[in-house]
Formats: sequence, structure tokens, C-alpha cells
Amino acid sequence: MNKYLKQYKWENIKAMMRNNKADPKECHDSFKDRLVLITGATSGIGYVTAREYAKYGSNLLVINRNEEKSQNLCTEIQNEFGVTCNYEIADFSHLSDIHKVKDKIRESDLEIDVFIHNAGVYNTKKKFTDDDIEEVFQVDYLGAFILTYGLKEKLKAQGKARIIFVNSEGHRFAILGIHLDDLKWDHHRYTGLKSYGSAKTAQLLSMIKFKEYFKHSGVTINAMHPGDVKTNMGENNGRSYRWFKHKFINRKARSPEISAKALYYLGVSNDLDGVTGRFFNLTTEEDPAPPALDEEMAQKLWEKSIELGGLE
Ligand SMILES: NC(=O)c1ccc[n+]([C@@H]2O[C@H](COP(=O)([O-])OP(=O)(O)OC[C@H]3O[C@@H](n4cnc5c(N)ncnc54)[C@H](OP(=O)(O)O)[C@@H]3O)[C@@H](O)[C@H]2O)c1
Repeated sequence: MNKYLKQYKWENIKAMMRNNKADPKECHDSFKDRLVLITGATSGIGYVTAREYAKYGSNLLVINRNEEKSQNLCTEIQNEFGVTCNYEIADFSHLSDIHKVKDKIRESDLEIDVFIHNAGVYNTKKKFTDDDIEEVFQVDYLGAFILTYGLKEKLKAQGKARIIFVNSEGHRFAILGIHLDDLKWDHHRYTGLKSYGSAKTAQLLSMIKFKEYFKHSGVTINAMHPGDVKTNMGENNGRSYRWFKHKFINRKARSPEISAKALYYLGVSNDLDGVTGRFFNLTTEEDPAPPALDEEMAQKLWEKSIELGGLE
């Protein structure tokens, strides 16, 4: 029997269902002149979150794949809020793009206050990147891993950043855990839910190792579920999925404003001082699913990610 099955607790599922209906705690403190990095800020949660931080005075560095959308976003934010908004272009389905941005930030004198890893994709069909890695694993997990790993010394030396992974309750779909020996899904049936769940579980496993690395440094790292909210997520898929999404998922989905409020609270509120290695449903702490708590797997994944990501 799979080792995780006996570790599941109904209590945790019930807590998730309860928390899914809750509103996030809010923080209204100023964050003037602080620097916030957000990946995937051209749409949905990232976009609303960029505006939320700008509203409270933060300067932004957004990392997106689309130049025109990035220009429009930064112009809009600068005009409306009078803060600085710069952007870098990186398509996370190209490892070389991620490395380029990571190196540029590492060599810069930017002082990072909050780093929100938000970019993500949901694929109903298996797809590989030019780096020959399953796309959801690369975009939703490996991209954030490479950026965090590559910037870890800088962040530690600065000793103040709050790193936040925009994760998902969807990590629970990797019921039996991640298949580290079959990341290309050659020997397991691929489904959108399973690949998404695996990538998000991988991210929670990486948090265990990053938390250890940043211990006592002043840097914290947490993950959160941003609510089930109406965005462009999944719109890249075929007609039948989009029909299903519009007819059923979107009807129940909430506004991404709740995600932005939660991400502002987690990034800024004093309540989170020193809090690290936790998973939040919006702003309520929860226990992640058992496969996301497996320390042995976290170590193996760490090594595999360094290898796949071409990191020293
Ligand atoms: N919506 C929900 O209910 C929900 C629930 C749980 C978790 N999440 C998580 O929330 C995060 C944000 O998703 P969202 O719902 O706001 O979806 P979204 O509206 O589709 O936004 C996704 C963002 O990621 C960017 N992105 C996609 N592929 C990329 C790539 N290859 N390289 C670089 N950037 C890329 C998109 O850029 P473009 O604008 O160029 O497409 C966009 O800025 C994701 O990590 C998702 O898994 C969402």
C-alpha cells in the first residue's frame, strides 16, 4: 500500500472545505518604497496583486513572458499609483530565460522585500518544453525553484525577504505523491489534475529545504492557496475543457481580489514576522497533504531539481 494513504486525516479535508469559504485577513499597513517581485503579473492573481502592492506604495519588479502586456501593466501602475514598476521578460518554458533573469537580479543591487512566485499553467494534455521537461512541472515548479535557489545567497545576505509561493489546494490531487522517477509520465497516466498536483506538491517539498537554508537569516518562505478565483488559468486548453470551466468552475469562482488581499497580508503584516515554512489557505494556516510533508522525498527532489535546473 502507498505509504501516504494511512497518513491522510479527514480533519484536514474538512478544514480545507471550511477555509475555502472564508475571507482573507487584511493588512492596511503602508509598504512605501519597498521592493516587491512578482512572477506572472500580466493576468489574474499576479495582476491584481501587483496593483494591491502598488496601492500601498511598493515599487515593483514583475517577471513576465509577454513584453507588450508587461509594458502596459507598468505604464498603468506607474500612472495610477506613482510608484516604480520595472519588468523582466522570461518565459518559464525556457530554462535559459529563467537563468538570464536570475543572473541579472543576482548581479544587481536590488534589495528584495517580498518575492511572490505566482506564474503558473494548467494543462489537460501532456506537453513538453524545449528543455524536454513536462511543462507544468517546469513552469509551476522548476521556474520558482531556480529563481529561489539561484538567489538564495543574495536573499540570505540581505536577511529580510518574505518569499511566497502561490501554491494550491490542488496539490492534494497528487494523492500518492510525486513520481520522481517518472517526471515525464511515461509509466503513469497523465491527467491535468495529477500533473498540476505534482508540480504544486513539489513546490511544497522544496519549501521544506529552503526553510532549512534560510533558518535564522531573517528570510521567511511560505506557500498559500489563493482561493478558487476567476482568472485565465486553464484557458490555453481545448474547447471542451474551456466549456466545462466557464459553465461550472467559473460560476463558483470568487474574485482574485481576495488572493491579492491575502498575498498583501502574508507579505506585509507583522503577524507573519518570523513565520516560515507554512501553508495557508488564503490567510488561514493548514496542514498540507502527506506527500507534501515527506522530508526524505524533499531531499531527493532537491537534488533532482538542481540537476534538472542546471544549477551548481
Ligand atoms: N485561479 C485559481 O483559482 C487558482 C487556484 C489555485 C492556485 N492558483 C495559482 O495561482 C497562480 C496564478 O494563476 P492565475 O489563476 O492568476 O492564472 P492566470 O490568469 O492564467 O495567470 C497566470 C500568470 O502566469 C503567467 N504564465 C503562464 N505561463 C507562463 C510561462 N510559461 N512563463 C512565464 N509566465 C507564465 C501568465 O502569463 P500570460 O499573461 O502571458 O498568460 C500569467 O501572468 C498560478 O500559480 C496558479 O496555479 C490559481
